Amino acid sequence: MAFWNRLKPIATPEHHGLKRTLSWPHLVALGVGAIVGAGIYALIGQGAGQAGPGVILSFGIAGLICACAALCYAELATMMPASGSAYTYTYSSLGELAAWIVGWALILEYSVVVSAVAVGWSGYASGLLQGWGVDIPQTLPFGEMAGHALHFNPLAVVIIFAVAGLLILGTRESAFVNTVLVVLKIAALILFLVIALPAFDITRFEPFAPFGWGSTPVEGANNVGIMAAAAVMFFAFYGFDAVSTAAEETKNPGRDLAIGIVGSMVICTLLYMAVGAAAVGAMDFREFSQSGEPIALIVRGLNQPEAAAIIGGVASIAIPTVILAFLYGQSRIFLVMARDGLLPRSWGRVHSKLGTPVIMTIFTAVVCSALAGLLTLGEIAALANAGTLAAFIAVAIALMVLRRREPGRERPFKAPLAWIVAPLTIIGCLYLFASLSAGTIQRFFIWMAIGVPIYLAWGARQSALAK
Ligand code: ALA
Repeated sequence: MAFWNRLKPIATPEHHGLKRTLSWPHLVALGVGAIVGAGIYALIGQGAGQAGPGVILSFGIAGLICACAALCYAELATMMPASGSAYTYTYSSLGELAAWIVGWALILEYSVVVSAVAVGWSGYASGLLQGWGVDIPQTLPFGEMAGHALHFNPLAVVIIFAVAGLLILGTRESAFVNTVLVVLKIAALILFLVIALPAFDITRFEPFAPFGWGSTPVEGANNVGIMAAAAVMFFAFYGFDAVSTAAEETKNPGRDLAIGIVGSMVICTLLYMAVGAAAVGAMDFREFSQSGEPIALIVRGLNQPEAAAIIGGVASIAIPTVILAFLYGQSRIFLVMARDGLLPRSWGRVHSKLGTPVIMTIFTAVVCSALAGLLTLGEIAALANAGTLAAFIAVAIALMVLRRREPGRERPFKAPLAWIVAPLTIIGCLYLFASLSAGTIQRFFIWMAIGVPIYLAWGARQSALAK
């Protein structure tokens, strides 16, 4: 078999006696908890700046595409519950080269999400500290590189290293802490709705799409238009893989997973659209589009400083869990790819006493910190989306390939209307990808142009399947 076409055997569902205690309400909570983060709290300002009031539609489009991808994801996750997510599914269906491309895209996604969420968090932390009389600016400019302003984001660096430290010590997300934080995150958004809706002014929705419905390039910034904002706000929706990984502990996976995934997507989409509508209705979108803490800014603008402090406080406490989840995911991807021989095996090495990948976690934290100072929040989130979109496309293709090649294999969860949902995922993701700015697409392909030769020169020969 040609080296690029090598297939990893499918890991079959193991029946290893994990107690089946979860049903769909737990899964919905798990999903919403993993999804809600910097996207709605911070990036919404950027989205409104790109789309104008039409940002509510951008949320709807991104949510729909993500829901389709999530269904494909769930089928594969339950069919081959092995770590490595999209990378592993691709390896077993489309071959080693495709798997490498997806793994390489996931490495980009996870690192860049960590940076983006840290930058989103720093806006709220900086605002909160300011309220206490401590003035730490969100960004400190220090020069220019190739026409691009460089800055240092001290708070983002602090939170990345703090979370990396916890991971190195072996912290896992605890179900109890997660539940408390989910409730807080949603309660703070509902508090925002309660305060912003009485100030709702429908005239602020005129014109609805001041920058058009598609995606129009702007020199040196993200594109504008409703689709351009959808391509960036897509960021606010991912994290749902948390639901599929709970499959083995689900009482009735076939039913509960579908409700868990679609339910958390529907709740997030409706919640995001409501928050977007309330934000635009309460304040001219141009006034909060540049803010690092748009939700708190709007509430402060409505003369509710205490509520703004509560929202800022909740965002500051709850958002770091998203960093924890993605930094953890990053170390897992490195481990799996190193175990497969596609990355140097030493990259997967865990510390003898702590049992965690110390060197790789510190390395990732350094890279993420640098990135946090190099690009704006919108640019970083867009780059993370490019990697994620590539992975989602691969997952949808893998689903169709395996339905044909392995029709009889056990599938604890079957994606409904798979032959509509999978092609919709591919078309939707391709369209969002094409709606990203030329700069983002270029950065993504530069990353790939670095990755593919590394595979050809190293991974193709070192692969465990080759040996
Ligand atoms: N969906 C996650 C967030 O918005 C990545 O923070």
